[in-house]
Amino acid sequence: MENEYYYNETVTRFYDAVYENFPNLKIGSDFYLDEIRKTEGKILEAGVGTGRIFMPAYNSGADIYGIDYSKNMLDVLKSKLPVKEHHRVWIDDIRKFDTGDSFSLVISPFRVFQHLLTIDDQLGALNSIYNVLEPGGRLIFDVFNPDLKRLTTPVENVLEHEGEYLPGHKLQRYASVSYDNIIQQMDIKFKFIWEEGGLEKTDTFSTPLRYYFRYELENLVGRTKFTIENIYGNFNREALSNKSSDQILILKK
Ligand SMILES: C[S@@+](CC[C@H](N)C(=O)[O-])C[C@H]1O[C@@H](n2cnc3c(N)ncnc32)[C@H](O)[C@@H]1O
Repeated sequence: MENEYYYNETVTRFYDAVYENFPNLKIGSDFYLDEIRKTEGKILEAGVGTGRIFMPAYNSGADIYGIDYSKNMLDVLKSKLPVKEHHRVWIDDIRKFDTGDSFSLVISPFRVFQHLLTIDDQLGALNSIYNVLEPGGRLIFDVFNPDLKRLTTPVENVLEHEGEYLPGHKLQRYASVSYDNIIQQMDIKFKFIWEEGGLEKTDTFSTPLRYYFRYELENLVGRTKFTIENIYGNFNREALSNKSSDQILILKK
């Protein structure tokens, strides 16, 4: 399953260290944990990653499962889970999967849907998720709300994280971003610089990300059997507006 979108060893290794205290991420995880708390029945996280949200949900007693197509990311998640619970997470591609089980809630937090570049991929994911939901079940996912200024402003090597990945071991992440507004895609390149064994090491990770506009999302969902329950403009559940940072979709089966 290794392809251009695959989370490589380096981005996986530093994922938790970078995102642990990343600005504004906690409010998003609190939002999803709140939805999980309100749910009776099984929950699936589509694009579960290293378990940033899965682990606190599991630790608070949620009957939660997770899929991801990056083995690297799942290996990190499994290292946090007791072995007898490893059955809860497995490798799968959200564009085309079936679990043989059904869920009350599917979440796909932190821009997972932006990894779905084509309309076929997006519809594939929505339809696969629809099929594993119970009647009345919900899908919640977020994508960013495009900021028109940023879409015309490429950035080059901006230092956006500086900290330690282990006590005394420096980690920096630089980002370069370019935009193609015809295919609504941004290309992100991260450069990691870290200290290890007394040496400075470096590696990169690149990924294309799709960005979405509001009516595009509504049309996309209109091509599925889902109904739109709500679209929030941020994780405080405020309505979508010109100032919104996010588009958070709550869809119902
Ligand atoms: C930004 S991370 C988010 C991880 C986690 N949901 C979180 O909130 O930290 C995106 C994740 O989506 C996964 N992913 C992207 N496309 C996928 C696909 N088609 N099928 C399964 N997982 C996918 C990536 O491997 C990565 O782990």
